[in-house]
Amino acid sequence: MSDTKKKEKYYVSTPIYYPSANLHIGHTYCTVMADAMARFKRLQGYDVMFLTGTDEHGQKIQKIAEENHTTPQAYVDNVVGGIKELWKTMEISYDDFIRTTEPRHHKTVQTVFNKLYEKGDIYKSEYEGLYCTPCESFWTETQAVDGKCPDCGRPVEKAKEEAYFFRLSKYQDRLLDLLENTDFLQPESRRNEMVSFVKQGLEDLCISRSSFDWGIKVPVNEKHVIYVWLDALSNYLTGLGYPDTEGELFQRYWPANVHLVGKEIVRFHAVIWPALLMSLELPLPDHVLGHGWILLEGGKMSKSRGNIVDPVKLIERYGVDALKYFLLREYTFGQDGLFTNEVMLSRMNFDLANDLGNLLSRTVSMIEKYNGGVVPGPGADEGPDAELKELAVTTADRVSAYMDKFSFSQALEEIWILIRRTNKYIDETAPWLLAKDETNKERLSTVLHNLAESLRISSILIYPFMHTTATRMRKQLGLWYADVVWEDAYTFDMMNGDQVKKGDALFPRLDIEKELAELEAMKQEQMAEAAEAAEAGGDGSCGAGASADPAVSKEAGEAEGDAPEIPYKDPIDYEDFAKIDFRVGRVLECKKHPKADKLLIFKIKIGKEVRQIISGVAECFTPEECVGRKVVVVANLKPRKLRGEESNGMLMFADNGDRFEFVTTIARDGEIVS
Ligand code: ME8
Ligand code: MG
Repeated sequence: MSDTKKKEKYYVSTPIYYPSANLHIGHTYCTVMADAMARFKRLQGYDVMFLTGTDEHGQKIQKIAEENHTTPQAYVDNVVGGIKELWKTMEISYDDFIRTTEPRHHKTVQTVFNKLYEKGDIYKSEYEGLYCTPCESFWTETQAVDGKCPDCGRPVEKAKEEAYFFRLSKYQDRLLDLLENTDFLQPESRRNEMVSFVKQGLEDLCISRSSFDWGIKVPVNEKHVIYVWLDALSNYLTGLGYPDTEGELFQRYWPANVHLVGKEIVRFHAVIWPALLMSLELPLPDHVLGHGWILLEGGKMSKSRGNIVDPVKLIERYGVDALKYFLLREYTFGQDGLFTNEVMLSRMNFDLANDLGNLLSRTVSMIEKYNGGVVPGPGADEGPDAELKELAVTTADRVSAYMDKFSFSQALEEIWILIRRTNKYIDETAPWLLAKDETNKERLSTVLHNLAESLRISSILIYPFMHTTATRMRKQLGLWYADVVWEDAYTFDMMNGDQVKKGDALFPRLDIEKELAELEAMKQEQMAEAAEAAEAGGDGSCGAGASADPAVSKEAGEAEGDAPEIPYKDPIDYEDFAKIDFRVGRVLECKKHPKADKLLIFKIKIGKEVRQIISGVAECFTPEECVGRKVVVVANLKPRKLRGEESNGMLMFADNGDRFEFVTTIARDGEIVS
């Protein structure tokens, strides 16, 4: 590469999040991925533009502000402050942060509207249909499922108002071509969904609202505000100074390389956004990547249910890098994944404290002990040396190949293959034995050199994902003075005479049982708070006790000797009880019984076994809410058929008179409940 060659550019964005509430681990996941990619590309020498921000208009925000007896602007200012604080704590390296309430963004959106209007792609008509406020999306009667939003399952409202429409239908053929014949949308599964969506036929899109006013005014009609999705999508242009398309930023970075988005908003980014750009006659982004969801036991995170994982709490306990590593390593891009404390804590302990932390501390200690803290120069290869070196200098290419596919997890796995191989190298070469005999001095030096080299290369590879950890590693290795240079990951034998210095452990070892208990206690507290809040707001209920019997919905008596609110059944002998085999199971899959409205069909994993169990809780839980949950199972109930489907066992639910709850535990699946 010659020095005069212009750097290749890379423009990556996250969705701009709704500041309707504080962000949770799901938003953090997306932003952490975008950040790792931006840092990775910068390290590789790209000229990077990384854009994020907040989507502050729309009916949802206006409603929430009203509920909080404040103005929308004051409401979003407060939440956005917290979001910026979170990204600062997470060391997110965005280049710009767009707030849709900023004047520069108003200018962009109004220009976009005017251009489409002048072109004849916008016309005035009347909208009559349904609206989902949480998703800010329009639906027809036929698209809605039982009066609910087909995307999120929440109730939709009727909307009837004068509105402006965008001729989306005009772009149907070009959109289909884009989706079918290019790699614009990834992964494959998302592409198939969108292809069939477009094939069903596109209707023109309503792009203004007049029943509320928290938004950007339609330039030709002050009574209307521009639909929040047209407003939001335009942020990708605002970030580059649009409408100044001749300006430096726009010239340098447009079109975007990648819009990273969650799967539920792929439709907006892979259909509506390219259509708008086609109408504006602007080049299209290279890719829209739809990532999967992080699910909790009980389904998607929801503030009203209190089942939210708050990144701030996790950072306080485990640090930014441990959280970033976990998010990037654990989840497969494009797929949904379950968040559990167990998995998070074991990643932190095994991969970070054990594999990486130990390797560094053992290496630095041995260099201090056996060579006065000085990294020796290279020596002749022996035993496993050549294999280790080969692995070390080829890892960067494998990491890079996976990053090109947004396979963060596999990229990190490649780095950990090197880290684990290096740990094994210590065991194979046993430096403590070499140190016992002066005649092995040279061999010992070579071994110590190779260990330091492998760690130096690892520190470069880790840098885009956990730059603080990489920097701490380099400090201990005596490399504090050297810039992190990607190309240096391709060369072995660079260190000679560097002065190592032992520091604190990179990651503390966690007492998993203790942490689990404390995290569980935190969660219970959070859920209790949410339940209280929901009660005040009159949440829906489910369960036997939704009856009119006042005794049933009263609080259970606390004092000892109080008569039970719901009478107990007749006593049984211990022998009878002991016949029941209770096990811990985990819900792998869950769907509605095709022939019975009240039944759900579960696939339950009990240890190594997976079996089907049917339960009559379809009115209490959606299948999605159940996936991932742990539940106590009666494992030895004789199998029977329910409406043609076999049920092998029984799931335990508690009925608190108001609703059903899973009977659950923090024990591992397969374990016996006694
Ligand atoms: O949709 N798992 O904003 P939003 C993984 N303002 N990712 C998750 C997640 C989860 N459980 N929950 C949220 C909007 N996300 C619009 C976007 S863009 C022009 C406008 C992430 O606050 C995921 O990336 O609802 C998802 O697409 C995004 O947050 C939605 O954030
Ligand atoms: Mg959303």
